[in-house]
Amino acid sequence: MSTLHRAAHVTMIMKLLLSILTALLQTCTGDKSCKIWSSAGHVVQRTSTFRVYCTFNVECRPSMYAGHPPKPQEHQKHNSTTIYLDVVSLTEGRTFSCDCDDIKSNTDDKPDSCGLDISAGYPPDLPTTFSCVYHISFAVVCSWASGQETYIRNDQQLWVRTFTHNASGGSKSFRVSAEGSPSARARFTLDSSVQVISVRARVTNKLGSAETPETNYTLSDIMMPSAPVLHQVDCSSRNCSVKLKQSPSTHHLDINYKVEDDAHWTHPHWVVANGSALVQSLLPYKPHHFRARSRFKTGLWSDWSRTVSRWTQEEAPARALDTWYAVEDRSMRVYWKKLEVSAARGNILNYIITSQNSTFRPNASSDKQNYPVPFCLNCDITVSACNKRGCSPPANITIHTAKTKPLLVSVINNHNVTISWRQGVSAPLPLEHVIEWFPKGQKLDELQWLRLDPNISHFVIKDMEPFVCYDGAVYVFNKNSVERLEFTDINTAVMVPTAGPSVEEKLEGTTVTVTWPELHISQRGGCITKYTVYLKESSSEKAYNVSASQRSLVLRDLTPGSHSIWITASTAKGESQPGQKVNFFIQQDSEMVLIVTLALVFILLMFILCAYQMSAVKERILVHFQFCLPDIPDPANSKWAKDCLKEKGKVNLQLQLSTSTVSEEDLVFVDIQELPRPLLLPQTSLSLDSESSTPLYPRSTYIKSFSHDSDSSGHTQTCSLDTNETDYISSHGTSDMLEVGEDDEDLPTFPSHSFFQEPLDFGPKLTLDAVRIDGTDFFSLVIDQ
Ligand SMILES: *[C@@H]1O[C@H](CO)[C@@H](O)[C@H](O)[C@H]1NC(C)=O
Ligand SMILES: *[C@@H]1O[C@H](CO)[C@@H](O)[C@H](O)[C@H]1NC(C)=O
Ligand SMILES: *[C@@H]1O[C@H](CO)[C@@H](O)[C@H](O)[C@H]1NC(C)=O
Ligand SMILES: *[C@@H]1O[C@H](CO)[C@@H](O)[C@H](O)[C@H]1NC(C)=O
Ligand SMILES: *[C@@H]1O[C@H](CO)[C@@H](O)[C@H](O)[C@H]1NC(C)=O
Ligand SMILES: *[C@@H]1O[C@H](CO)[C@@H](O)[C@H](O)[C@H]1NC(C)=O
Ligand SMILES: *[C@@H]1O[C@H](CO)[C@@H](O)[C@H](O)[C@H]1NC(C)=O
Ligand SMILES: *[C@@H]1O[C@H](CO)[C@@H](O)[C@H](O)[C@H]1NC(C)=O
Ligand SMILES: *[C@@H]1O[C@H](CO)[C@@H](O)[C@H](O)[C@H]1NC(C)=O
Repeated sequence: MSTLHRAAHVTMIMKLLLSILTALLQTCTGDKSCKIWSSAGHVVQRTSTFRVYCTFNVECRPSMYAGHPPKPQEHQKHNSTTIYLDVVSLTEGRTFSCDCDDIKSNTDDKPDSCGLDISAGYPPDLPTTFSCVYHISFAVVCSWASGQETYIRNDQQLWVRTFTHNASGGSKSFRVSAEGSPSARARFTLDSSVQVISVRARVTNKLGSAETPETNYTLSDIMMPSAPVLHQVDCSSRNCSVKLKQSPSTHHLDINYKVEDDAHWTHPHWVVANGSALVQSLLPYKPHHFRARSRFKTGLWSDWSRTVSRWTQEEAPARALDTWYAVEDRSMRVYWKKLEVSAARGNILNYIITSQNSTFRPNASSDKQNYPVPFCLNCDITVSACNKRGCSPPANITIHTAKTKPLLVSVINNHNVTISWRQGVSAPLPLEHVIEWFPKGQKLDELQWLRLDPNISHFVIKDMEPFVCYDGAVYVFNKNSVERLEFTDINTAVMVPTAGPSVEEKLEGTTVTVTWPELHISQRGGCITKYTVYLKESSSEKAYNVSASQRSLVLRDLTPGSHSIWITASTAKGESQPGQKVNFFIQQDSEMVLIVTLALVFILLMFILCAYQMSAVKERILVHFQFCLPDIPDPANSKWAKDCLKEKGKVNLQLQLSTSTVSEEDLVFVDIQELPRPLLLPQTSLSLDSESSTPLYPRSTYIKSFSHDSDSSGHTQTCSLDTNETDYISSHGTSDMLEVGEDDEDLPTFPSHSFFQEPLDFGPKLTLDAVRIDGTDFFSLVIDQ
């Protein structure tokens, strides 16, 4: 191999190395097209103004950008290779960059752009509230507040010098890094020989630094024990014993407590014994929270311990209940207000009510605030509230007889009702007032009440329900009397009742009594001002106004026919829809008259019958009847009878019709038998054969019968003789004796008692005195004995 060859070879290697070196050099320097810098460096104070420059090392059209994402900026030309941008009042960190605009970005040999991040912040403030504490259990801790945020990185350090005896003794210096912002802490341990420390805090950043003045501490002044440990609290109703542990033991102890929800802690009286603190004068039945701290003979108070809590125990209720009562319709109810927690001193379990006059001693559960009691006058009722430790003093209820005074006026304003009652200016103040109010008609169930101060003369009721009618009263308790001032019919809002009352009617002849129940409270819409009863008769309609307190109406003298009735209720807002209608029918009046007339006739007839049975009256009636009844012939004055009378004594027909002695059993009907004349009456044969003789008995002679009819009001007595004069004997026994006389001796005779001495006996009840029947006619006679 020749040296020429060798030299060429070396040259080639040299060239290659050179090109590699060039490439490497290019890569290391970064093939940047430009160089960027700021006149204020890369960390600037906020709101400061400065300039950013770019110097290009290639020929191109330069441009400048700022922010994220980069935005083109209006740059200025400094000289042929350098541009700049004035940045005014920068308030936060920003990125600036420069680039060549005219070289396509996708070409491989495009040089990189250049960029610069500028941070903006503040120099550190002087640390404040600098303090150091010597926690003897572990270390000295110095802390301070770093002031305003700098927005850039700070370096916080504590410069410490320690002195073994006093500030002039041997010293040692060191630095401790601090952490935290805005409150920084630096912590370090010390030799036990150190008694004094001299410290200062220093904070530095790119924009400046701050340092506290040197502070000297004697360690005994900044000694702080660790907080005591509280465990186990035992409480009675007024005292609590708090067990606590403290190591190392300290000279001073501080205990605080507060009751639930108190804003401030209280320093109680307490004593320490056997590692426990006895805290006194607490409140019964309250949750108490305790905390404690401790201190050495010198030095600082420890931090507060963890809080421990405990309920104090119960005590019997302290105060008598506030009570009231209501009486209505011989029902009584007592009311009371719940005791406040401070007076209850425990969980109220039940209320005990006693009535002196009876064994009544109920036990009302704790949720109750009223209780019905047996009605009594002049009896003492007491109510007590009980918890598990005992009962409150009994509250005595005296039933008052109140003087009722005129009604109070109320003012309703935006659903609030103001009740005012005036007191005489000179009159002494009453002892107290009680105001009560309740939905109308629901006094016992819904009573609300309040005891008021003596000097109060008005009260605003805010919780009256709208569309409900309220009543109420104010009781004024004077020394020797109680006055009751009522207020009634208050509704804070009113509407038309939502329904009409239902009707109940009671019909008596032409009188109808209408009754209706009160509307349900939810239907009333407020205070009922009146009811209107509508009565519809066949064609006309009448309305009757009825006051709200009334619940019935009597309608008299209704005309016959069908009627309907309905009722509406009205409030101040108007009249409700009618309630359900009721139809009824009044009987035709004339029918009633007929019934009454018939009854009167019947009574009259009965009267006549009775009267007739007294014979004295009977005769008088007979006389009257003779003249009063013109169409009724008088048998006694008839021609036929007169003829008979001429032969008085010879022919004597005596009819014994003594009705007074007739009893029903005596009456028997007898069939008339036709008998041959000779057989019956041989000695008194009648010669009626010849036509020439004066026909005393016309051919058409009727049956003459006397009968007692059990169901007839009188006696039927028929003596019907078809004479020319048409004389006949009238009925109804107007004659008890009929005498028939005949000129002729042989005239037929009517049987009589005297006629036959021995009457024919047909049976025990019947006596046929005489029956005589001639051949053509017959004549029958029934006589009872
Ligand atoms: C342009 O100005 C910069 C900064 O002052 C300087 O470094 C540079 O040399 C100047 N260039 C020319 C060509 O003057
Ligand atoms: C510091 O201690 C030394 C030695 O005990 C004593 O001589 C000196 O007076 C003390 N200095 C002060 C300021 O107390
Ligand atoms: C703290 O102690 C040192 C040394 O004794 C003393 O030079 C310095 O003045 C003291 N600083 C203050 C604030 O007392
Ligand atoms: C509370 O402590 C005091 C003092 O020791 C004592 O007299 C009192 O009886 C205690 N009360 C209760 C309720 O324990
Ligand atoms: C009242 O009732 C409660 C629970 O029903 C009961 O525990 C208590 O003993 C009763 N008290 C009286 C005095 O009856
Ligand atoms: C209730 O009456 C009793 C007996 O008269 C009395 O001892 C008690 O103090 C009274 N209570 C109140 C609260 O006045
Ligand atoms: C009515 O009472 C309510 C509730 O207390 C109150 O906010 C309102 O101002 C009162 N209105 C009037 C007119 O007094
Ligand atoms: C009424 O008296 C009480 C104290 O008894 C007082 O607090 C209140 O202010 C008085 N009210 C009026 C209206 O005078
Ligand atoms: C009923 O009262 C209304 C108004 O209250 C009155 O217009 C009407 O005449 C009264 N009707 C009768 C029958 O009194």
